[in-house]
Amino acid sequence: MDYKYTSKNVEDTLLLAQNIESEKFPGMVICLNGDLGSGKTVFVKGFARAIGIEDNITSPTFTIVKEYMNGEIPLYHMDVYRIDENEDFGVEDYFNKDGVCIIEWSELIEDRLPQERLDITFKIIDENTRRLVFKPHGEKYEELCDAVL
Ligand SMILES: Nc1ncnc2c1ncn2[C@@H]1O[C@H](COP(=O)(O)OP(=O)(O)O)[C@@H](O)[C@H]1O
Ligand SMILES: [Mg+2]
Repeated sequence: MDYKYTSKNVEDTLLLAQNIESEKFPGMVICLNGDLGSGKTVFVKGFARAIGIEDNITSPTFTIVKEYMNGEIPLYHMDVYRIDENEDFGVEDYFNKDGVCIIEWSELIEDRLPQERLDITFKIIDENTRRLVFKPHGEKYEELCDAVL
């Protein structure tokens, strides 16, 4: 089942990320897709803030992965927008770690993603409105969507 949410402004997206963060568990994987400027990095900011990370979050476009170790649990933020098709940055190693992985543009590495994960697609409706569609893969993520949405 898909879940939908309409974000009317940046604060809505930050709050939603905060609510999902409250259901976090080690090994959690969240995959974000949608056009440039649709709010993927805003979501990561809300999540990071809720986890207690005080760094300024920017898309790690040139490093692919940024690791934030100073929150409640580790956060691995990836943006694979510029990845070369077969570039191997050991993404699989991150999935079974003790932290949370959030991947922007995950559809570009679809065949390397874990089976169990939460997919969120962002769509720009107008200047301040974004429509989010959630697709949970696996029981844990279904329960999470039930709890939060
Ligand atoms: N409802 C909303 N949710 C998230 N961002 C929004 C929203 N409305 C407007 N914005 C703006 O859209 C932009 C989203 O940027 P960003 O999160 O970096 O996008 P992406 O990472 O998807 O390329 C920001 O400038 C933000 O202020
Ligand atoms: Mg981004």
